[in-house]
Amino acid sequence: MIHLTASRSNALRGDVAVPGDKSMSHRALILGGLARGETRIRGLLEGDDVLRTAAAVRALGATVERLGPGEWRVQGAEWQSPAEPIDCGNSGTGARLLMGAVAGFPISVTFTGDESLCGRPMERVLGPLRAMGARTEGATLPVTIRGGALTGIRFVNEKASAQVKSAILLAGLRASGAVEVVEPARSRDHSENMLQAFGCELQNDHATISLGDNRTLTGTNVAIPGDPSSAAFPIVAALLIPGSEVTVRGMMVNPLRTGLVTTLMEMGADIRLADERSEGGEAVADVTVRSSALHGIEVPAQRAPSMIDEYPILAIASAFASGRTAMHGLAELRVKESDRLDAMVAGLRSCGADARDEGDSLIVEGSGRPPTGGAEIKAHHDHRIAMSFLVLGLAARKGVTVDSAEMIATSFPDFVPLMRSLGADIA
Ligand code: S3P
Repeated sequence: MIHLTASRSNALRGDVAVPGDKSMSHRALILGGLARGETRIRGLLEGDDVLRTAAAVRALGATVERLGPGEWRVQGAEWQSPAEPIDCGNSGTGARLLMGAVAGFPISVTFTGDESLCGRPMERVLGPLRAMGARTEGATLPVTIRGGALTGIRFVNEKASAQVKSAILLAGLRASGAVEVVEPARSRDHSENMLQAFGCELQNDHATISLGDNRTLTGTNVAIPGDPSSAAFPIVAALLIPGSEVTVRGMMVNPLRTGLVTTLMEMGADIRLADERSEGGEAVADVTVRSSALHGIEVPAQRAPSMIDEYPILAIASAFASGRTAMHGLAELRVKESDRLDAMVAGLRSCGADARDEGDSLIVEGSGRPPTGGAEIKAHHDHRIAMSFLVLGLAARKGVTVDSAEMIATSFPDFVPLMRSLGADIA
């Protein structure tokens, strides 16, 4: 296991571009692999999670080539049963989206993954796929799917989950009949946007998404903007370290992904968006952050889908704020790469911060001063827990060490050099 230590740092300064969005990167490879003709991708995130999806799409029969940094070419194909199980590594998104996509073909595919992924619930995707006619074995990985001859579905999800929605839409591409997904609240809509860019007919009426009659995908060019879930780390670090000013260029600001920015602004953060534009069919901006005194707030449950991966770093920001921050509606955090509610409460307490969970809520009582730090944090093989506590260590009174820092490579392989380029002391 790789350990990293973050020590109290001087002001962060500079302009950076964060890696391509992870959600869009998985989708670009999968849609490219399903499409007729060639897809060119620019800005692909080359983290382990996405590279696993690239390998999976190749093993299923498409041609997937790396042309240069972030530049990929995919030639779609009729998918075939792969010779070996598909290993999705740590990636829930890769596993769940691929399960949906393979279910449309008359093939048999076994999915596996690392210890964390093998413990995560898959029934949320397998249930609707079975209702469409797929046969499945296993409720957690390894899971085998035998697909083909699918029929339509109207699926009313209890949770706002982009992975479940996307799996059903991908299976639906090759199903007969109407395919409709209803969500209790809107989740990220990258699948809908990208399916349309590939020529698929789709109606998106608030929280009801339905496929049209023309479901043929045609290869296209996809430009992937910067991942707001990765940008979250330099943004919060700049807020917490006095005297900092950092600009993240080309960050995706799709409103279904910017709950963290909204929340930090409500807490008093000086964050400004400039040069808002459209790239790859998504809204993008340059985001400038200056260190700010934060105050605690209530974060409503309805906001959770737009910042579901950002609660660990928000909890860190809350520990530096003055007063109580209460984050509600977080049941899903228990089934992410780790139990993120437990991991955050334990890690914050060991750094001297006052944190507790109350049912599905996370409560952090900030004193308005940096917490002590000085702890060795168990990251539970979770990239976002590791990066969050390294940010805490940069601004706390004493440095912080995290274990299993190798997992950072799943989503943000250049996290350490990028943070160092801004002046962060991470070794
Ligand atoms: C993702 C959806 C979210 C998110 C995950 C990426 C996606 O998961 O946590 O990191 O790309 O669709 P859920 O769909 O389980 O909420």
